[in-house]
Amino acid sequence: MRAATNRARDPRPLEPPGPAASRAWARLSRSLQSPAMTAAVAPVSDSVASPPPDIRPETPQDAGAIESLVARAFGPGRFAKASERVREFAPLRPDLSFCAWEGERLVGVVRQSEIAVGDRRLIFLGPLAVDAAARRHGAGARLVEIACAAASAAGYGEVLLVGDPPFFGRLGFSAEATGQIIMPGPVDPRRLLLKVLGPAEGTDPLQGAVTAP
Ligand SMILES: CC(C)(COP(=O)(O)OP(=O)(O)OC[C@H]1O[C@@H](n2cnc3c(N)ncnc32)[C@H](O)[C@@H]1OP(=O)(O)O)[C@@H](O)C(=O)NCCC(=O)NCCS
Repeated sequence: MRAATNRARDPRPLEPPGPAASRAWARLSRSLQSPAMTAAVAPVSDSVASPPPDIRPETPQDAGAIESLVARAFGPGRFAKASERVREFAPLRPDLSFCAWEGERLVGVVRQSEIAVGDRRLIFLGPLAVDAAARRHGAGARLVEIACAAASAAGYGEVLLVGDPPFFGRLGFSAEATGQIIMPGPVDPRRLLLKVLGPAEGTDPLQGAVTAP
């Protein structure tokens, strides 16, 4: 502001940059685009990335924002999935469901419901969704880890879900012990994944239809 005011009071006319200034600008411009400068600048931009989102249990006020995030992440095809059939009868556990917030903006969600397989009660995880603009910063993995820890603290021994093995395998889920679980709709058996919370020894494999608890 002050510079503009001073300039306005300066009676000298503005002059176009001379050839020396043009050469200096061309040199600076070239050096900014050099591989060395690009490499030097990349860690700086990484280090000023926004802080991780704040993860909190779901509250009743979050329902609208969750629905809109899940709709953006999965599209209308989500209603045809077997997981959706489970969610129709399995009671949601908001206390075991979590939202990731960047300020007032919902950027991630993981929901969990209670189910039974035979006489065992366990947790069904899903949907899990992270806003496209906030992906690949670890929010998805953190949401799953927090959800599983909460399920374990609530006394559950297993978490079941339908998902991509490369993503959920890294978080301790596997299809090894799900071969005898019957979902209420068609599911690729390689995508029906279970995580055992705590020691797995001595636990009989889950067997039978997924039902309401
Ligand atoms: C899956 C999802 C929740 C991951 O969220 P995120 O915050 O990006 O997850 P993270 O940052 O913890 O992990 C990202 C890593 O997982 C990988 N990844 C993400 N989705 C994957 C998938 N479906 N299959 C395999 N790998 C996947 C990414 O490539 C990335 O790998 P990298 O660390 O080697 O770069 C998010 O991509 C999403 O909302 N997708 C649409 C909905 C969906 O598919 N939900 C999961 C139900 S199966």
